[in-house]
Amino acid sequence: MKRNDFLNTLSGGLILVCAGSCMVSCSTGDDGAEGTPRPPTPNPVAGTKVSVVLSSMPNVGDQIKSNSVLFFRIAEEDIAGSFIATEAICPHQGGALVWRVNDNRIQCQLHSATYNTSGNVLQGPQNSAGSTRMLKIYAKTVENGNLIATVG
Ligand code: FES
Repeated sequence: MKRNDFLNTLSGGLILVCAGSCMVSCSTGDDGAEGTPRPPTPNPVAGTKVSVVLSSMPNVGDQIKSNSVLFFRIAEEDIAGSFIATEAICPHQGGALVWRVNDNRIQCQLHSATYNTSGNVLQGPQNSAGSTRMLKIYAKTVENGNLIATVG
């Protein structure tokens, strides 16, 4: 093989390696925070009980996700009414939902839709087609140091 032929073969391979790296780095992250929207992840089957340890959210504003349920604390007492349990995945196109304690609202990380603690839509998706729906708010109980939500 001549030197020029070898270099031409090598540069073609480098282009493929670079193109592959760029495609990987531009893909959607696991949290749906950027890139192409993905279809919504199904919520757990109705009736499923999802629990978290109460002490994992000691302060007002603390939040945790478990099995597609977003839990967050809105008051200090360790009773069920001090917490909200809702969907962790936005019903619009599957973005991750987070509790914004300072804004007193739930917000989607993908298109910035916002919801109140009753699940009502305060602001629809931004810079994206389609609309969203009200979030499901799940019933909760506190038992033996655990906060338990029943998916509805
Ligand atoms: S995925 Fe939440 S607003 Fe679009």
